[in-house]
Amino acid sequence: EDSRIALPIGTTLDRYIKKKQDEFQYATGELSQLLRDIALAGKVVNREINKAGLINIGGAIGTQNVQGEEQQKLDVLANIRFIRALTKGGEACAIISEEDEHFTDLKNDGKYVIAIDPLDGSSNIDVNVSIGTIFSVYRRVSPLGKPIEKEDIMQSGIEQVAAGYLLYGSSTMLVYTTGHGVNGFTYEPSLGEYFLSHPDMMIPEDGSIYSVNEGMYNSFPEPVKKYITHCHDQQYSARYIGSLVADFHRNLLKGGIYMYPPTEKNPDGKLRLMYECNALSFIVEQAGGMASTGTGRILEVAPQSLHQRVPLFIGSKRMVEKAVSFF
Ligand code: AHG
Ligand code: MN
Ligand code: MN
Ligand code: MN
Repeated sequence: EDSRIALPIGTTLDRYIKKKQDEFQYATGELSQLLRDIALAGKVVNREINKAGLINIGGAIGTQNVQGEEQQKLDVLANIRFIRALTKGGEACAIISEEDEHFTDLKNDGKYVIAIDPLDGSSNIDVNVSIGTIFSVYRRVSPLGKPIEKEDIMQSGIEQVAAGYLLYGSSTMLVYTTGHGVNGFTYEPSLGEYFLSHPDMMIPEDGSIYSVNEGMYNSFPEPVKKYITHCHDQQYSARYIGSLVADFHRNLLKGGIYMYPPTEKNPDGKLRLMYECNALSFIVEQAGGMASTGTGRILEVAPQSLHQRVPLFIGSKRMVEKAVSFF
């Protein structure tokens, strides 16, 4: 092994979580356990994704979800894996998922409500392109021992106590925040451990990458068209993977803006407030960036329905400010 490129193995995720717990960030230990449960389910899903081409779990399953999308086998599988891990873990009392029409009341004394996009980037599963998982964690607000209430479920993004994503990319990563900055962990498959690889992540204040499905340009609102022209004038690089997590992660590291504007087909944009936009908006703000609907802060949008969509402009602060200045 070349000693110039061999990296020392550092802090494991477990050790890091324990350390933060001791620093009173989440003193009771329940949030720690919840993060471990998610990380573990991530390992299981990661293993299945890696084998997908070999064991016939690629492709569509033949059902539609409430979003009107063809469910892929891995959408359903990942949903089952995360719900199972969270149910067994006992820290979550309710789960809302992109793949389930209604929320699931786990009927236990768990203190946290989870919103999850179990598999993000479904259209990329069968073509060996990066995909992800996105999650938000909220505190239960209604009294324990009773059924879950609407107020437990319909919380704004500012109420999140933690949020994160798993990126199943050229390496698998877990990136999360508990409201004290953002940290990234890289999975070492042969050891079965996540290691802290990206401490205190900060998004560059400005950038030169723009990420948008420009094929839909003709149906974007005028302000968005104007901002895209600005990107052309600046000769920014266009980068669009089509997996939100992967596009977001690249821009987080390199500086950039991701946009999913309103379109004719999706007048509120395509992305879902509760399990896509809120989590990434919490992360980006913690990393010094910005997230907007075009006319307001994502985290302050009061949810009206479980599967509500919102336009999303997210990334480097200067770029998002510029984009929304056209509205
Ligand atoms: P999901 O696979 O969870 O349904 O999310 C798909 C989303 C997101 O990952 C991606 O950024 C976006 O859809 C791409 O949409 P377009 O194909 O319309 O660009
Ligand atoms: Mn989907
Ligand atoms: Mn998604
Ligand atoms: Mn999904």
